[in-house]
Amino acid sequence: MAASVAVVVLKELQQPATLLRCITVALAWVTFCSDKRGDGLTVKSVKMASAVTISSAGAQAGLISKPRNHGFTSYSGLKAASSISFESASSFLGRNASLRASVAPRIVPKAKSSSQISPEASYKVAVLGAAGGIGQPLGLLIKMSPLVSALHLYDIANVKGVAADLSHCNTPSQVLDFTGPSELANCLKGVDVVVIPAGVPRKPGMTRDDLFNINASIVKSLVEAVADNCPEAFIQIISNPVNSTVPIAAEVLKQKGVYNPKKLFGVTTLDVVRANTFVAQKKNLNLIDVDVPVVGGHAGITILPLLSKTRPSVTFTDEETEELTKRIQNAGTEVVEAKAGAGSATLSMAYAAARFVESSLRALAGDPEVYECTYVHSELTELPFFASRVKLGKNGVESIISADLEGVTEYEAKALEALKPELKASIEKGVEFVHKQQTAAASA
Ligand SMILES: NC(=O)c1ccc[n+]([C@@H]2O[C@H](COP(=O)([O-])OP(=O)(O)OC[C@H]3O[C@@H](n4cnc5c(N)ncnc54)[C@H](O)[C@@H]3O)[C@@H](O)[C@H]2O)c1
Repeated sequence: MAASVAVVVLKELQQPATLLRCITVALAWVTFCSDKRGDGLTVKSVKMASAVTISSAGAQAGLISKPRNHGFTSYSGLKAASSISFESASSFLGRNASLRASVAPRIVPKAKSSSQISPEASYKVAVLGAAGGIGQPLGLLIKMSPLVSALHLYDIANVKGVAADLSHCNTPSQVLDFTGPSELANCLKGVDVVVIPAGVPRKPGMTRDDLFNINASIVKSLVEAVADNCPEAFIQIISNPVNSTVPIAAEVLKQKGVYNPKKLFGVTTLDVVRANTFVAQKKNLNLIDVDVPVVGGHAGITILPLLSKTRPSVTFTDEETEELTKRIQNAGTEVVEAKAGAGSATLSMAYAAARFVESSLRALAGDPEVYECTYVHSELTELPFFASRVKLGKNGVESIISADLEGVTEYEAKALEALKPELKASIEKGVEFVHKQQTAAASA
């Protein structure tokens, strides 16, 4: 019986699509969850462990040995990535999210040797503000992505050390550093995804809006450079106040004649990550299963977790809803206060941003099932920018998912109405900032 199953599985593996999908998933999993041993990297998952082994030399060179002819009875889970069961709950992404979903991103058989294939890590990602509290761990997480061929690190502060440090990680991407405005254009040329965590973070007692005066100018000048050098890239804004910096970026791109609303994103993934964590803790759920859509914006009451839309379906008392909603809205402040003047969330933010980058790369690679909550140009409400779940594709936002806003509870409906004036004002503030600058420049 075992022998006949092995024969069937071996036949399956000779199908390039099957093999490539297996290796993609294995590589992704190894990259994020590998256990480095003295003699190489071994996939931890029970289902994968017997099927795919990657030697450290192979991983370094981007080469993966073909599954060996043993233990294939346990291999069946890899045939369809959606059915893979991971034993660890420490996955970078949730069960329905990108790394767990199936995709065969640009992995091509290598003609030279039938026993080896070479993953084509083919996307270039730039991080602007890469020497900072978010930028550094974000650089590390992106360096771990099997889809990235080049990681460009830019900062006005010295970023050479960060790049030298990261470049020693034996993952496929090449790390290049760019310091100061004179090197910004070179940093951006040919880049597929630009992530912007440049700017100042909050200190205790500050709101995100208090950062506006400094960060608005930083985002404006960086997005001008993006417009000039890689207007086709996915642009992902982390710098606060996101509710205003995204409209600022949009106005800059419009002025430059290159605005594509489908490719401009405010990174609100941290709100989802926090909501998932807090809900799982509160309701004693398996963390990896929990998915809470968070809509609106990214500051105070504009952050609206739709707890009634939590998956798996779970009920909350009114007190729980109130408590969880407030905690998710104030989670950033929780970190700011705990850090007592040393900044805001950096590690969880880097984790969240890396998830969003990975999802974007998978969408670019052709994964048809990538969904993330993000703050984008939207017609879901009367506001021109609104965070909601969207479907990501090769060209950016493929569709905005309206279902989450249908059939919400009375509490959520009220909260939605309550957030609109603040979000509207933040959007207008961003737009006005760019227009004022334009007028000032014209009259100078
Ligand atoms: N979207 C979110 O969920 C979220 C969460 C946390 C923090 N943030 C925001 O992210 C931003 C960065 O936070 P941080 O903790 O990394 O701050 P940080 O001060 O540690 O790092 C910011 C980095 O930006 C660099 N920088 C400043 N001006 C620049 C410019 N013109 N060009 C390039 N780089 C420039 C600085 O040199 C520094 O290295 C803040 O605005 C913070 O509020 C957003």
